[in-house]
Amino acid sequence: MAGLMRNSFMSEEIAAATTPSSEPNSAATAPTKVVVPVATIATLGQHEGQTVKLQGWLYNLRESGKLVFPIFRDGTGTVQGVAHVKSVAPEVFETLKGLTQESSVIVTGKVRADKRAPGGYELDVEGVDVVQRVPESDPYPITLKEHGVDFLMEHRHLWVRTPRQSAILRIRAEIMRAAAEYFDQNGFIRTDPPILTPAACEGTSTLFPVDYFGEPAFLTQSGQLYIESTALALGKVYSFGPTFRAEKSKTRRHLTEFWMIEPEVAYCDLDGLMELAEQFLSHIVGSVLKNRGPELELIGRDKAKLEAILPPFPRLRYDAAVEMLNQAHKDGHLEQPFEYGNDFGSPDETWLSSQFDRPVMVNRYPADVKAFYMEPDPKDARYALCVDVLAPEGYGEIIGGSQRVSSYELLSSRIEAHKLPREAFEWYLDLRRYGSVPHAGFGMGIERAVAWICGLDHVRETIPFARTLHRMYP
Ligand code: 4AD
Ligand code: MG
Repeated sequence: MAGLMRNSFMSEEIAAATTPSSEPNSAATAPTKVVVPVATIATLGQHEGQTVKLQGWLYNLRESGKLVFPIFRDGTGTVQGVAHVKSVAPEVFETLKGLTQESSVIVTGKVRADKRAPGGYELDVEGVDVVQRVPESDPYPITLKEHGVDFLMEHRHLWVRTPRQSAILRIRAEIMRAAAEYFDQNGFIRTDPPILTPAACEGTSTLFPVDYFGEPAFLTQSGQLYIESTALALGKVYSFGPTFRAEKSKTRRHLTEFWMIEPEVAYCDLDGLMELAEQFLSHIVGSVLKNRGPELELIGRDKAKLEAILPPFPRLRYDAAVEMLNQAHKDGHLEQPFEYGNDFGSPDETWLSSQFDRPVMVNRYPADVKAFYMEPDPKDARYALCVDVLAPEGYGEIIGGSQRVSSYELLSSRIEAHKLPREAFEWYLDLRRYGSVPHAGFGMGIERAVAWICGLDHVRETIPFARTLHRMYP
């Protein structure tokens, strides 16, 4: 509907002639038509000195006697308009005066460069059409004063309109674009795994059950098992889609529905995987710096911290990371002592990742705490050939990956040891029966990456509509 509206206003022309013709089709008397181009706020610079039309909303309004300063937004940015009682038609001034926040408006005006304006331009308002006026009796609920996060999340469908939230969503889109671009440009084929699955990939405790025509099925936790199949068919592949975890954790890093991008590569080992991860992350951060600089500034992100994200990234064995944690505990930086053999908790990850100025690649965790499909280290089978990439500034894990078990016998016994339903994994075992090769892959959670790159303290602002333990609305 919004798209249709926009188009219907696109090519509107206004008659500039003052004498109406009795024969509108006669060439001799046809009025001169002046086309007012529809501009977007982001591209006002292309129209300096011109009269343009903007299709948007009233973000804010300042009034001072004979002057009104409406701030318009159109999805691409905000611009301040100026209207003096003497410079515009009386009805235009009256319409703008007292106009309510978030009323939808089509405004015409002349673009004027102004060095003090945030985007570099202001609009001298000439005309305004109100598409829908928000009534005073039922005002827009999100005012310009501070609101609590619960209130804002309850109004997420409106909150996304604020410049900060819009900027985060634009950066998210760039991260997703650049992530897919990296694989597309490096010989990977996108293969989409199913979302409805018969079995677990990442442990049975976080599965969302679905009633599949009377049979149990689950929402996917990861596309990995399926893209192992397509990797052995196509060589280098990736998947990119929503994934689900019935995670009862209420932390700033956990969603129940999140987007994951996962590469999988045949004939790749752990070292190759770590090189891929550092190239991939550097490409994404570089693209955001190049293409979303104004948004990073708008949200107050320290860009110097992102400019430091260049390969090589430090590699740290699990055992060395544990030594750092023990030392941190001794020095009073960590409350809890770390118990060797566990997976890292949130405070451990936060501390570890704040020790480096670029992502740190923690590798070779004890096999017992990691997933059933991870290849043991041939040098010492107590360790898995796996890597977690922890983002700096305390953000913690954004990537998890590993080399995969390639032996049929080992995989078969792992499935049994993890009490997974063997029938559901027969097809997966086939990949080890027929032309098994060393292969490896990882998954990056988009929301974790957005939180880090934007410098946000919670993943709930990194996705248009967050799904968490206690939130399913809107
Ligand atoms: O470490 P995880 O569980 O690894 C896998 O799912 C592998 N099968 C991926 C693979 O090797 N192809 O999840 C991968 C990433 C995490 O590093 C994190 O960024 C994100 O997915 N993630 C979550 N993001 C938000 N909320 C949650 N509950 C998440 N769980 C994992
Ligand atoms: Mg993980």
